[in-house]
Amino acid sequence: MSTPATPRLTVLGTGYLGATHAICMAVLGYDVLGVDTDRAKVAALNEGRVPFFEPGLPELLRKALDSGRLSFTTDLSAAGDFGDVHFICVGTPQQADSHAADLRYVEGVTRDLAPYLRRRCLVVGKSTVPVGTAERLTRIVQDNAPAGVEVELAWNPEFLREGYAIEDTLHPDRLVFGVASPWAEQTLRTTFAPLIDAGVPVVTTDLPTAELVKVAANSFLATKISYINAMAEVCEATGGDVQDLATALSYDSRIGGRFLHPGLGFGGGCLPKDIRAFVHRAEEVGVGKSVAFLRQVDAINQRRRARTVDLVREQAGGSLEGVRVCCLGAAFKPNSDDVRDAPALDVARMLQEEGAIVSVYDPEAMDNARRVQPGLHYAESVFDAAAGAQVVVLLTEWEQFRSLDPRRLGEVVAACAIVDGRHALVRAEWEGADWTYRALGRAG
Ligand code: UDX
Repeated sequence: MSTPATPRLTVLGTGYLGATHAICMAVLGYDVLGVDTDRAKVAALNEGRVPFFEPGLPELLRKALDSGRLSFTTDLSAAGDFGDVHFICVGTPQQADSHAADLRYVEGVTRDLAPYLRRRCLVVGKSTVPVGTAERLTRIVQDNAPAGVEVELAWNPEFLREGYAIEDTLHPDRLVFGVASPWAEQTLRTTFAPLIDAGVPVVTTDLPTAELVKVAANSFLATKISYINAMAEVCEATGGDVQDLATALSYDSRIGGRFLHPGLGFGGGCLPKDIRAFVHRAEEVGVGKSVAFLRQVDAINQRRRARTVDLVREQAGGSLEGVRVCCLGAAFKPNSDDVRDAPALDVARMLQEEGAIVSVYDPEAMDNARRVQPGLHYAESVFDAAAGAQVVVLLTEWEQFRSLDPRRLGEVVAACAIVDGRHALVRAEWEGADWTYRALGRAG
């Protein structure tokens, strides 16, 4: 049986990845059914509410719902009846007691969907998984689906960045199709025809390579960030300036300036857990040495958090006991309300553990931050957080913080001392307004 000209799609898992994918595919003209076990999430999405912060997505959800091409359900049997192509978009978090990826959701949804697959269809994994997972899922699907080997599995990794999710989904740098047959490739080409017609390059490969592309990409990005942060450590010991160093490196087109911003380092729901899971998987298959450097990448990244606390302590005069610290930022990066493995919240917690009286403000991530770190004090605004502060530390580079007027902020703090954890401020402006400015990898 050939693939319908406009296949009907299901998207299993409506978190960050799944919700964005479902909404964008509906906007591209496909009939899409989103599926999630979380009733509240399904209800919210059906009512036009996006359960997380992503610029532009609420408007696009409205448009997709109004078109009549998108709906959400908790019913997997409906998904089985509906879909020609089923996208698996559930999470693969780090296991609680190990660095390995927790595959229970990916395996669970595959196992639960399979009994409803009664005709030829394609199951497409998008989640980030350890290499070898697709092969195992193929067996789960084919052993449990009434349609048996008529159901095929493919892998199509997703590279979207939070804050740019729509752009990355509708205009990706590339599409990667990991397939086991020409039919699977053709089905994916049909499914992504609008993007392919617009000139997005396609790399067609086998299943293991497709699984690896994603972790290899994230490992490279994490390595680039930790590389410049390692240079920051060297600058700190030698009186160099890592910002000038990074600028000089960036003009070499072989190196480039992206992901070369020094500072507090990477966090979020992907980079940290993906590099750890990659090391774990590489060790399992006997090539641990090949990616052992990723342990260093992780360690450099963690050290930046401790070093930021050092700078705040230095600004406070040597001890944090009873010192009022204003923490600007909680999200792992700007334009996101995600606090998973957020360096900012980690630093706020470490400051408080050393006796500081911490006040945190973030434009979007306050509710999530409160859930994860209920013991911190949360302020209503930047100026509320800064009132009476002896040290201000910028931890997430929101535009609102970048454009702060140092003179106005200087009127509410107890002492004009700032640590720029993200190299987001213009040093001369702050020093010109009589602030003592410190940043990682820059002389004091
Ligand atoms: C990342 C990948 O970019 C994306 O392709 C993948 O699909 C998921 O993981 P995301 O987690 O949304 O996306 O964030 P990203 O923009 O990559 O930033 C990751 C972290 O690195 C953030 O904490 C950011 O602050 C930090 N970072 C980024 C730096 O510290 N320096 C940089 O130069 C760039």
